[in-house]
Amino acid sequence: MSSTRSHKLVLFFAISCLLLHEICTDASVCKESERKALLEFKHSLQATVFSGNDALFWISEECCLWRGVYCNSFTGYVEMLDFSYQPLVVAGTISPSLLKLHHLTSLNFSSNDFNGSLIPEFFGSLKKLKLLDLSNANFRGPIPSLLGNLSMLETLRLGGNGRVFNVGKLEWLSHLSRLKEVDLSFTNLSNANDWSQVISHLPLLQKLSLRHCDLPSISSSSLSIANSSTSLTYLDLSDNNLPSSAIYPWLFNVSSNLVSLNLSSNRLKGPIPEAFGNMMAIQELYLSDNLLILAENQVRGDSVLNEIEKLPDFMVLDLGYNLLNGSISKSIGQLSNLQVLRFAGNSFDGDVISEAHFSNFTYLQKLDLSYTSLTLKLNSRWTPPFQLTQIMLCSCKLGPHFPDWIRTQMGILTPDHYISYVEYLDISASGISDSLPYWFWGSFHGLKYINMSFNQISGTFPNNSIHISHLDPSSNNFSGPLTRFSLDYNMGTINLSKNKFTGSVSPICNFTGAVFLTLFDLSNNLFSGVVPDCFGSFPFLTALNLGDNSFSGSLPSSLRSLISLEMLSLRGNKFSGVLPSSLQNCAKLKFLALSDNELSGEIPMWIVQKLSSLVFLSLQGNQFRGRIPHQLCGLKYLQILDLSVNKISGTIPPCLNNFTSMAKKVSLDRRIEHHILDTGPRFLSPEGVRYIDEALLTWKGTKQSYPELGLLLAIDLSCNKLTGEIPEELSSLQELVVLNLSRNHFNGKILQKIGHIRQLEVLDLSRNKFSGNIPTSLSELTFLSNLNLSYNDLSGKIPASTQLQSFAPSSFSHNRGLCGPPISPNCSMVEPPPGKAAVGSEEDCDEFMKWFYTGMGLGFAVGFWGFCSVVFSKRSWRHSYYRYMDNAKDWVYVTFVLLKARLVRRIKGLSTR
Ligand SMILES: *[C@@H]1O[C@H](CO)[C@@H](O)[C@H](O)[C@H]1NC(C)=O
Ligand SMILES: *[C@@H]1O[C@H](CO)[C@@H](O)[C@H](O)[C@H]1NC(C)=O
Ligand SMILES: *[C@@H]1O[C@H](CO)[C@@H](O)[C@H](O)[C@H]1NC(C)=O
Ligand SMILES: *[C@@H]1O[C@H](CO)[C@@H](O)[C@H](O)[C@H]1NC(C)=O
Ligand SMILES: *[C@@H]1O[C@H](CO)[C@@H](O)[C@H](O)[C@H]1NC(C)=O
Ligand SMILES: *[C@@H]1O[C@H](CO)[C@@H](O)[C@H](O)[C@H]1NC(C)=O
Ligand SMILES: *[C@@H]1O[C@H](CO)[C@@H](O)[C@H](O)[C@H]1NC(C)=O
Repeated sequence: MSSTRSHKLVLFFAISCLLLHEICTDASVCKESERKALLEFKHSLQATVFSGNDALFWISEECCLWRGVYCNSFTGYVEMLDFSYQPLVVAGTISPSLLKLHHLTSLNFSSNDFNGSLIPEFFGSLKKLKLLDLSNANFRGPIPSLLGNLSMLETLRLGGNGRVFNVGKLEWLSHLSRLKEVDLSFTNLSNANDWSQVISHLPLLQKLSLRHCDLPSISSSSLSIANSSTSLTYLDLSDNNLPSSAIYPWLFNVSSNLVSLNLSSNRLKGPIPEAFGNMMAIQELYLSDNLLILAENQVRGDSVLNEIEKLPDFMVLDLGYNLLNGSISKSIGQLSNLQVLRFAGNSFDGDVISEAHFSNFTYLQKLDLSYTSLTLKLNSRWTPPFQLTQIMLCSCKLGPHFPDWIRTQMGILTPDHYISYVEYLDISASGISDSLPYWFWGSFHGLKYINMSFNQISGTFPNNSIHISHLDPSSNNFSGPLTRFSLDYNMGTINLSKNKFTGSVSPICNFTGAVFLTLFDLSNNLFSGVVPDCFGSFPFLTALNLGDNSFSGSLPSSLRSLISLEMLSLRGNKFSGVLPSSLQNCAKLKFLALSDNELSGEIPMWIVQKLSSLVFLSLQGNQFRGRIPHQLCGLKYLQILDLSVNKISGTIPPCLNNFTSMAKKVSLDRRIEHHILDTGPRFLSPEGVRYIDEALLTWKGTKQSYPELGLLLAIDLSCNKLTGEIPEELSSLQELVVLNLSRNHFNGKILQKIGHIRQLEVLDLSRNKFSGNIPTSLSELTFLSNLNLSYNDLSGKIPASTQLQSFAPSSFSHNRGLCGPPISPNCSMVEPPPGKAAVGSEEDCDEFMKWFYTGMGLGFAVGFWGFCSVVFSKRSWRHSYYRYMDNAKDWVYVTFVLLKARLVRRIKGLSTR
């Protein structure tokens, strides 16, 4: 019995040994003291991973076989701890028992989750360490300068923690003279004004990442650059906002062996220095998102490129998002080893790219010419010499015909595998006005990402399922039924909005990999029928937009499963019935648009109790009745409340002044932002994406979207059956911009203190029974641009102010007895009493919709990737983006944020499930 057990045990060890250690020797015998120290360490972490299956590996006697523990095969001492193999979620603090591992040379905690704990000071006493990797591990707080005692250290990675900072100077680093690799990216080094001094004197340093470190911008020309080390081969200083003067002087002294240089997202200004051409080893040059130009003698790009052309191994040229103009020289074609070419976001206005430019690019893999206004004149029978993996041509001129050469990039099928294929295709906003070629759906094999939005492409989707992670054919002329989608391991987004798709959406029940879908937008199509009750399989869905279709029936109860949902728009359909209580489960909702449907019943209390994060709530244009529940006042983040065009009765709850965001000048997010998990292919870096809601606002009969939601604080209760007076408390909503109470049965006087609502731009109190005088404080509202007090029982003199007198007489008409400008020259001429009183009947409300200012037909409009899915950074991105949008007269918002850590963790979490 016991012999079988020990047999099994041996077998088990042998197997774990095989699985876990590349080399497994019998010599490793765990030291008892080290075993104890490790157990103490394990205990201190209270890490969730140890309570799972992996506990198995930490219970045997032989600690050298424990997972993540590596001993010297002869001495048996623990030399290496590596927990990077899977996410460890740590609740405790790391025990100094590790100090008892006297032979520890390598510690790798990368990509675990230490839940914001501090980097332990005692790490500085692990004297033998050669490798310390704490990157992407959710540490926080100061870098212990005691790390400067680790004199054997060769590799130090603290990057990607976001909330780690360095106190004072980087002097401590200068003691680590054996360092070969340092990664401090995303740590705050804003006080380290000795950084360039320190790093240029680390004699063996080869690899340095200081991306996004808030590096201080001191002029480095004053620094001693004598004896600078020239060992650096890899240097990343991107995203530090540094001016040329803080980089160039020392850079060109340490750069002679550089192979890869990243200076993107700084403030490099002026002509591209020819000195880049002297970096004889350089293969990768990233200079995007700066303010670089081509000098006079570089107008054709020749001068810089001439230098670079002499560098035979040049592989990456990224000059995206600078101020380059003119035309792209054909001599670029001499870079025959080029793999990545990026000119995006420069204005080569009217320049034409032809086949000749590309003729030598046999190895090109990634091409980004987005936002260049370049015209690509390529013969439809052209066979490019390259096989691209990423094609980014958004807003280039490709049309009107669909670019046929793309077919050659779709992948080559060999008997056993696909050789190479495009994974990422962005041809959005490129002037294509054509039908989708017959070969399209049939030819792609590995395409993960397609953005062809904002064209006029017609066609239907295939009957069989489409395997993809990101698909954005929005704003085109696609038609036909919805197809089945199959999503893979990557988090995915599907945006079919603004097309002419028809029929039922029941294929959503047959999506495979629905668990990976984070955004699903079907808005503005011709879909109809009942929405199937199939949302049970979309746990990560963050935004769901079914707006502006012809869906009917009641809301599916499986909406309860959408626990990640932050945005839900069902506006502009024919949904009926009461609000299902299942919506309560969507506790993360910030944006809820149910307007223009046939929903009925009372406004449920749980909206307030369960959906407490709501920023935007629109129930406009339904059949809701009953009173406004006073609990609604508890929605403390609410910025827009639209209950207009319903059958709501009773009075306004005075507690509305509880809407803190409306009452106080708080710094609001100007937009409602949703963090959409996304692991789509990226051009240069794996960054996440934000999806930003926008409100649609009806203005003079046309719907315009209003992206800066946070600037529009609004209450619209118009067209209901509300009674009573306006509660005094409303006047404390100082930040309110729009107040529409028209077409109700309100009476009494207009708030005397209405002038306290300083930001008010739109005030509509028309078609009620307000009486008495117009309060003089109204004339204090300097921003007021729309005013309607007509159809009430108001009387007396209209208060004098340039503001009020500038409104049309119709703003005051049909009252009992208003007088003075603008309706009459003076008060001796009193307006005749109106013939018939106005009430908020339904017909009125229809008419009301056509009226001058119709309040807020708030809803949701598309806007995930919009067009151009490129990852490019803030500054120049915005410039180009807005430039385009000005022309498009439409707003779509996309921003990119760094979500890497969270992303990696969640994906890993998924994959281990
Ligand atoms: C730490 O582990 C991760 C994941 O295995 C690996 O990518 C990384 O290179 C390791 N760190 C070092 C410095 O070797
Ligand atoms: C992470 O830290 C927060 C507070 O800082 C705590 O509330 C939370 O429970 C911790 N998470 C884990 C998994 O220990
Ligand atoms: C760090 O080194 C200094 C001298 O180099 C020494 O005085 C100090 O005690 C060391 N600190 C630790 C924690 O080992
Ligand atoms: C970096 O740290 C400094 C002070 O150490 C602080 O003033 C600054 O706001 C921090 N920067 C960021 C981006 O957090
Ligand atoms: C392609 O390379 C050859 C040989 O290096 C060169 O002669 C030719 O000019 C290049 N073509 C272009 C378009 O640059
Ligand atoms: C789609 O799903 C429905 C119900 O889940 C099932 O009856 C139907 O057979 C499925 N269709 C396909 C093509 O898989
Ligand atoms: C108003 O806000 C206060 C404090 O935030 C809260 O205690 C109170 O319950 C709110 N009133 C209503 C009616 O929600």
